[in-house]
Amino acid sequence: MVNIGNEASQIRYFCTAGYGMEQFVIDEVTKKLAAHDIERLQGKVLFSSSAHISLVKELKSAERLFLLMKRDSPLKLSAHANPARVASVLKSTLIGDLQSWTSAEVTWRRLQGVVGDKKKEESKCEEQRKVEEENVCGEDNEGDIPIMKKRRMMDCEDEYVYTGDDQDKTRPQANRHCSGPLSFRISCKCSGSVSRHLSVQEVSKVLGTSLSGQLGWKVDLRNPQIEITVYLRDDHCLLGIPLTRLPLANRRYIKTTGLRSTVAWAMGELAQIQSGSLVLDPMCGVGTILIEAAQEHKLACFLGLDIDDRQLHKASENVAFAELRDRMHFLKASSTHMPLPNASVDTVVCDLPFGKKFGTKTDMAASLPLILAEMERVLRVGGSLVLLLSPQLSCLLKKLLTPPQTGTQEAANQEGVQDVTSTPTQGKEPSIGLMTESCLPLSSLKHQTSLRLSLGTIDGLLHKYIKTHA
Ligand SMILES: C[S@@+](CC[C@H](N)C(=O)[O-])C[C@H]1O[C@@H](n2cnc3c(N)ncnc32)[C@H](O)[C@@H]1O
Repeated sequence: MVNIGNEASQIRYFCTAGYGMEQFVIDEVTKKLAAHDIERLQGKVLFSSSAHISLVKELKSAERLFLLMKRDSPLKLSAHANPARVASVLKSTLIGDLQSWTSAEVTWRRLQGVVGDKKKEESKCEEQRKVEEENVCGEDNEGDIPIMKKRRMMDCEDEYVYTGDDQDKTRPQANRHCSGPLSFRISCKCSGSVSRHLSVQEVSKVLGTSLSGQLGWKVDLRNPQIEITVYLRDDHCLLGIPLTRLPLANRRYIKTTGLRSTVAWAMGELAQIQSGSLVLDPMCGVGTILIEAAQEHKLACFLGLDIDDRQLHKASENVAFAELRDRMHFLKASSTHMPLPNASVDTVVCDLPFGKKFGTKTDMAASLPLILAEMERVLRVGGSLVLLLSPQLSCLLKKLLTPPQTGTQEAANQEGVQDVTSTPTQGKEPSIGLMTESCLPLSSLKHQTSLRLSLGTIDGLLHKYIKTHA
């Protein structure tokens, strides 16, 4: 499964992605990594690429990145199988050919920048030994030695490796770069009917015993070099090694997080921002959507509006932290009365308040017609509008932006079009009676696409419109 050739060899990876984000991952790996043999599973994307690992680690739409060890069909276990039979099926399915595990180890070490550069490996081992010595000797010392000790450990942490403890940045990584037996632990996630027949402990025990017995790898629950991650689901069985210590979705350039970074990035992608564009977020919060877009589009400028001083303060801090002050500015203003001329912006992106974290006391259903009318006014002809809304607000948006139809047309459309806004658990639709006559109709905004995605505990809907005429 894993290729071990030279620098240009193909490596098979997989990424986890939030529900609804899979297509963004597929498009991104295709565009940035020239990926091929792409396979989409729910919440995961598998792909092969020969791109340098530093590029792979920069993916913006994915949550976590893994070296793929094994992808198999689901486990076939009968409800009455005895423990010996279960262990045998697990072993043959999960371990399979031992050669693929030794290949994976070589690839993993190469991705750490160790194998193939013996000098570097030796100097890193020497560095590691010194850190460990300082750690022991430094305990009784005072003055500046503990600070030096801490600094050296932090420097050592720059390499990507999953330690299992994302919080503890000062802990030395025992034997991490050295070429002794690999230390590992297993993290298993079972779901669906598999979880009724198997416990994660059983899976970990069978896999752990086989790997230490047959490959000489060492179990280390506290501080392993690698964490073998196993997904056992009704539709697939997947094994991988995480390639980054922190999730890819944790952005090093953002100080205060707002909207989930992967979704914020996807909004900029959907908007298809062009060089030289002015991009507006009229309810910018801490500026996440604009910052994600600015990282990707170096030749565009960005403007954020918000009515809340605290949000604007954090947005300014974020922009300074991301070193984007020359291309991004903020204004205190309401999205219902934007201090901007007609047709003055090329792109509008906006995540309206909803849900527990970002809900407001203001009735968004009542304000939506006015906010949309303002967005339409400031957008130039040909410009794009990308909105993130709750399913409820999405129903209202659809009514606001759908031209009035005859009864027959409406019935025909409803039969043929899949409604991504509806859900069995959805609450009551907001009343259309709240709209003001003066805001309707918003006829120049032409619908392009709508898609549903997970925001963690709730779902949101992304909508894209293009302004077709003045
Ligand atoms: C969902 S949050 C935006 C979060 C943002 N995407 C982020 O990542 O931080 C909505 C924002 O709209 C702002 N807001 C609410 N009503 C507003 C209005 N009438 N005009 C401008 N901003 C408003 C709130 O202060 C809040 O910061």
